[in-house]
Amino acid sequence: MELGILRSIKTGFSRTANRVTDKVAGSGLGQELNTLDSSAHAAYGSEKLTALVRRAAADAGVILKSDGALPLPLNAPVAVLGRCQCDWFFVGYGSGGNVHAPYKTNLLDGIRKAGGNLYEPLAKEYEALSASKRFRAEAGFWGHWPFSHPEFTERLKTLPEAAKALADDESSACIVVIGRASGEDRDLKPEKGSWYLTDEERRMLDIAVKSFRRIIVLLNTGGLMDLSWLEEYGDRISAVLLAWLGGQDSGSAAADIIYGSVNPSGRLPDTAAKTLEDYPSFSDFGNKKRTDYREGVFVGYRYFDKKAPDRVLFPFGHGLSYTDFEIAPGGMARTRSGLFVAVKVKNTGSRPGRTSVLLRALLPQSGADKPLSVLVAFRKTRELAPGEEQAVNLSCDVKSLSVFYEDRHAFVLEKGEYFLEANGVHVGGFTLCEDETVETVHSLSPAREELRARIEAAIPEESMAPRTVDRSFADVASGKLPLEYFVADLSKTELEALTRGHGMMNSPLGPGGNAGVFGGVIKPLKDRGVPVATCCDGPAGLRMKEVCTLIPCGTALAASFDTELVEALHEELAHEMEFFGVDVRLAPGMNIHRHPLCGRNFEYFSEDPVLTGYMASAVVRGLADGGKAACPKHFACNNQEAGRNVNDARVSERALREIYLRGFEICVKESMPDLIMTSYNKINGIYSHYNFDLVTTVLRNEWGFEGAVMTDWWMKHGRSPEYKKLRDNAYRVRSQVDLLMPGDMSHFAKDYRSDGTLLATLGTEGGITRAELMRTAKNVLKVILKLKKNEVRV
Ligand code: BGC
Repeated sequence: MELGILRSIKTGFSRTANRVTDKVAGSGLGQELNTLDSSAHAAYGSEKLTALVRRAAADAGVILKSDGALPLPLNAPVAVLGRCQCDWFFVGYGSGGNVHAPYKTNLLDGIRKAGGNLYEPLAKEYEALSASKRFRAEAGFWGHWPFSHPEFTERLKTLPEAAKALADDESSACIVVIGRASGEDRDLKPEKGSWYLTDEERRMLDIAVKSFRRIIVLLNTGGLMDLSWLEEYGDRISAVLLAWLGGQDSGSAAADIIYGSVNPSGRLPDTAAKTLEDYPSFSDFGNKKRTDYREGVFVGYRYFDKKAPDRVLFPFGHGLSYTDFEIAPGGMARTRSGLFVAVKVKNTGSRPGRTSVLLRALLPQSGADKPLSVLVAFRKTRELAPGEEQAVNLSCDVKSLSVFYEDRHAFVLEKGEYFLEANGVHVGGFTLCEDETVETVHSLSPAREELRARIEAAIPEESMAPRTVDRSFADVASGKLPLEYFVADLSKTELEALTRGHGMMNSPLGPGGNAGVFGGVIKPLKDRGVPVATCCDGPAGLRMKEVCTLIPCGTALAASFDTELVEALHEELAHEMEFFGVDVRLAPGMNIHRHPLCGRNFEYFSEDPVLTGYMASAVVRGLADGGKAACPKHFACNNQEAGRNVNDARVSERALREIYLRGFEICVKESMPDLIMTSYNKINGIYSHYNFDLVTTVLRNEWGFEGAVMTDWWMKHGRSPEYKKLRDNAYRVRSQVDLLMPGDMSHFAKDYRSDGTLLATLGTEGGITRAELMRTAKNVLKVILKLKKNEVRV
C-alpha cells in the first residue's frame, strides 16, 4: 500500500528559502549544491519505493568468498570492527551523490533492526568515538572529499572484552568493515586510504584474525579496491561481502544478506584483478591532457580472459549464493540479426534464491584479434524454491558478437565456430562458413573535406512552413498546429533561447536545487505558452533541495543483473520526480569502467558495454513508464576525471564502436531516451559537444535517436575547423548538440548573458542558418511537448 505523501510543506520556489552556498573549487565551480540552507522540506514517501531501494541494494550484494560462515544465525554473537559500521558510505560524491536522503541505515542500525546478536559495548564505543570531536569523519568539499576515514582500533577499550566474550561461542563472528568512496572531479589514487588499505586498516585486520574465530569482511565501496590482502589472509578470512554504496537502506540490505533473509544473488560487473598494475589501461590513465586507449577492445574480462587469465582474483560475473543452481540447455535459434536461447534453471540447493543467467558467446579465434568470449545477454530468475525450475529466454543482437573492421567500415560476424555458454554451461552454437556483414557505417576518421561535405549535406533546407504570426504552443499541444509551423514563427531571439538552458544551476524557474532548466526560459517564449523543463541530478537519486530517495549506486544496480528491478525502481522514482516538479533526471551514467581508479566509476555500471547498455535501457524505460525523461550520459569516453574538461581520449574506431559507444547504442535502440548528455572531454581531438560524427552521424543517423542532445555543464570554447567562422554555440548547433547547459558560458552567471556566438554568423556565407536554429528548436520542443503537454498554457 502506498503511504503517499507523508508530509508536504512544499511552498513552491522561494529565493530566500533556497539559498545555495556554492563552493568554488577546480572545475566543480558552482556545482556544490549539497550545502543547502534548506529551511523547508517536502518529503515524498512511498512504501513501494522504499522497499524497492532496499531490495535493489540486497540483490546487488556480491559474496566474493565464503567458507560457509554466511549466513549467520540471528543469535550468533557478532563483534563489528571498522568505523564505517557507523560512518557508512551510502553513496559517492558530486552530482552522482549528495542526495538529501530521508534517513540512512548504517550497518549497526541494520544489524540491530534485523535483531542480530551484536556485541553492544564495542558498537557503542565505535559510535561514541566516531561522534567525538577528535575522530569525527570529515565531510570534505568539492573535489576534495575523503576516500576513507581513519580507523582508531587502538583506542577501543572494549575490544579485548569483545574477543573474550565471543571466544567460547563457535557460532560467533567478527565483521570487519572497510569503506571507500570517491566522486566527481577527482580520481581515486594508487595510495593507501584510496586504492590500498591503510596501515591502520591492516592492523585492524591483523587484530581481528588474531582475536576472533571467524572473520567476515564487508566491503562498503562503490567499486573495486585493492584486494590482494585477501590472498595473504587466506583461510583466516571466512567470507567477503561486497555491499557497495547501497543507498539509504544499505545497512539493512547488508544485514539481509548477513542473516540470510535475502539469499545473495549479485555478481561482479567488473573483473577484480590481483593488482592495479594488472589492468590493461594501467599506464594510460590520469594524464590530464591526453589518454591513449592503447588496449583497444581489450577492456576488463575481454583482456584478462585472453591475455592475463592468471592475474584475475575474481572474474567478471562472479558471485556466490547460499544455494546451488543447475542450468540446462533449452534450445537455440538464430536469425540473421539475432540469437535466441532458452535455458532451464533449477534450484538444486536447500534455500530459496535467485540467480542471473549470463549468456556468453565464445568467439572463433581466427581472423581479427578479439576476445575469447563476450557477454551477449543476461537475465535474472525469480526467487526459486528448492527443487523449483524456471525456463529463461534470452535474446541478443548478433552485433554484440561481431568485430568492427575499420578498413571495411563494417561490423562483421567472422566466419568460424561460435559456442554459447550460460554460466559456463554449453547451450548452443553455430558455424559460419563465410564472414557476414552485420552493418556498414560511415568511417569516423575521414579526411577533413569528407567530414565537411557530410556536415554540409546535413544542413537543412530553409523551411517552407508558412509564418503563422503569434500562434501559441497550446495549438501545437492540442494538435491544431504542426510544430514545424510554430517554429517557423519564432524570432531569432526565441530560437536562440531554445538552444540553451536558463543560464545557471538552481534556476529560479525550477524547484530549489535543480541542475538547470530549458524550454520557455525567456518571456516571449513563456508568453507563447512554452513551459520549462527541469533537470536534476543524478544516478543515485534527486540531488536537489528537497529530501529525496537515495538509491544504490550505478555499479551496484549493475551487480544485481536485474533489469526488471531497475526498471520498476525507476518507475517509482519518476513518481517522486513528479512530486517535486522534476522532468529530467541527469542519469544514468553510462561510461565504461576502463580503469578502476576513475572517480565516477561508482555512478557507471560496468566494464562491459552489453551490461551497461541494458541496465541503462532499464533506467530510461522505468522513468518513461512514470512519465519522466532520463538523460543518459556522458556521451562518450568520460573514463577519467583527471583533466575531464580538456582530456583528449585517443581511441581507435574499433574500440569506440565495440566498447565505448556500444552501451549507448543498445540504450538508444532499446529504449529511445528523450535526451542524451555529451561528455566534457575530446574524442580523437574533437570535443564531444562539437562532434558532428558522434552526435549526428552515429547517434542520429545510424542509431535513429530522435531526441535532444545537451552538453555537460558548461562547455569549453572551440572553433570549427570546417567552418572557420563558427565558434562555440554556432559550432555546437551545427553539430546538432541542441542545448548548452545550464545555459550561460560562465559558471558564475546569475542572469543569462548571451556570448553572441550563436547568432553572430546568422545569414552570412558559411554561417549558422535559420533552418539549423529551427531544427534545434524542434528537437528541444519535441521533448518539452512530450514531458509538459499537460502544462502547456497560454
Ligand atoms: C557532471 C554531470 C552533471 C552536471 C550537472 C557535471 O559536472 O559531469 O554528470 O549531470 O554536472 O550537475
